[in-house]
Amino acid sequence: METIRIFDTTLRDGEQSPGATLTRPEKLEIARQLEALGVDIIEAGFPVSSQGDWESVHAIAGEITLSGVCGLARCHPLDIERAGEAVKGAVKPRIHVFCATSKIHREHKLRKGKEEIIRLSVASIQQARQYTSDVEFSPEDASRTELEFLEEIVHAAVEAGATTINLPDTVGYATPKTYGEIFSHLLKKLPILRERNIVLSAHCHDDLGMAVANSLSAVENGARQVECTINGMGERAGNAALEEVVMALRTRQDFYNIGTRIDRSKIYPTSRMVSSLTGLVVQRNKAIVGENAFAHESGIHQDGMLKNRETYEIMDPTEVGIAKTSLVLGKHSGRAAFRDRVKQLGYQVDDGQSEAAFNKFKTLADKKKEVFDEDIEALIDDQLELGNGAWQLVGLQVISGSNTIPTATVTVKDSGGEPLTDASTGDGPVDAIYSAIARLTGVKASLGDYRIRAVTRGKEAQGEVQIELEHNGRKIRGRGLSTDILEASALAYLAAINRLRSLSAREALITPHVSV
Ligand code: KIV
Ligand code: ZN
Repeated sequence: METIRIFDTTLRDGEQSPGATLTRPEKLEIARQLEALGVDIIEAGFPVSSQGDWESVHAIAGEITLSGVCGLARCHPLDIERAGEAVKGAVKPRIHVFCATSKIHREHKLRKGKEEIIRLSVASIQQARQYTSDVEFSPEDASRTELEFLEEIVHAAVEAGATTINLPDTVGYATPKTYGEIFSHLLKKLPILRERNIVLSAHCHDDLGMAVANSLSAVENGARQVECTINGMGERAGNAALEEVVMALRTRQDFYNIGTRIDRSKIYPTSRMVSSLTGLVVQRNKAIVGENAFAHESGIHQDGMLKNRETYEIMDPTEVGIAKTSLVLGKHSGRAAFRDRVKQLGYQVDDGQSEAAFNKFKTLADKKKEVFDEDIEALIDDQLELGNGAWQLVGLQVISGSNTIPTATVTVKDSGGEPLTDASTGDGPVDAIYSAIARLTGVKASLGDYRIRAVTRGKEAQGEVQIELEHNGRKIRGRGLSTDILEASALAYLAAINRLRSLSAREALITPHVSV
């Protein structure tokens, strides 16, 4: 199958993302990863822009052997000299020369006429050829350049020695149809492109969210190099995302019938590395590499996924280096996903226990956005304990605050029995709760230890309370979990009492006393 070249410009156009400046060691680290990923050309920087950038490009050129290493240059002798010097040690050096060609850039930015622009471009390409035979030329803002002038300058650039012609959609203005037509038009009008095996290249920005669609349209119309960045980072809205272009070509091979040399299993690790080194967070719903890209929450989708992954996934996450699909348990999840997760966590529960835990899970999921494995474990632990026959918390009301005597009204129910309610004051709300429970259950124990922690992330995280009661020299632990820490405290106390009850007959002991 025919392949296209992947030209990665994360370290040049990507680094132009506001807030994404990288140090030399960081650039080297990313370049090594891009080489391992299998990109054909790494655009390592813009050497004339600073001494630091020159050094980075030079260092990358001195180390990378499998990918080509490219430096960017404007049509100025000094730019080309700096780029040439920076890449000349590379196994496969390339210089990328660019000059704006659209009317608005000619008149307002360059203040130069068409002839002057052609003359400068030709001279610069010829100068670049003195350093390397691999020279790329970009008529900047090509997608807004008059087609006739584009033909003229591309022809001149090829005659001057450019081997790759890149047609940038610099401001993300093109549409897939119009952008693709530029490629087919030039290929038709300029036989020299085929005669000299010139590679046409797409370089798209994402201002209208069409960078990937435009790049793919260019491929359909004859482009054989795509310029892109990891995570789509780049100027303004960014560049075409490498991972999206590669996976579109792969997943819709039936349509495009073109491959790349990218090692797809390295896509996700590369995305993570670039995100952590640049500090640019990948949006959750970003295609291919976003946190939600292979996560399913709807019950219907999870059920389908458990029956056959391909019902709702067109790509296998392992193919891009993501360990596995995640079925996110939340309020939209159904029994199938819940049972599957309980099984994966190593529990064996009967249908009744599973159903009871599922109902509690639904209640919890209504309070919390995402239910984590720890939450499920806690629910099942609780469920298994309740199955032994025990006191259950039915209701809890607490009054507390400054200038108020903490008072708790607690309702509990013994298995099979009627609900019992009592109220008690205490030094603190937890003490009040524990006094009421002690009276209701008739179990008196001293509280040895009380700990509280958030077991899951986020504002709506569950609080876990762990306590230790002492009874006749025996220490008994109890654990309670709830988004309400006072409820978690009550549950922990009841869990310890239930354990105690199953260990020995009821005994009258000391009243617990705590201030929390
Ligand atoms: O977007 C653009 O036009 C560029 C050129 C330098 C190729 O990045
Ligand atoms: Zn660009």
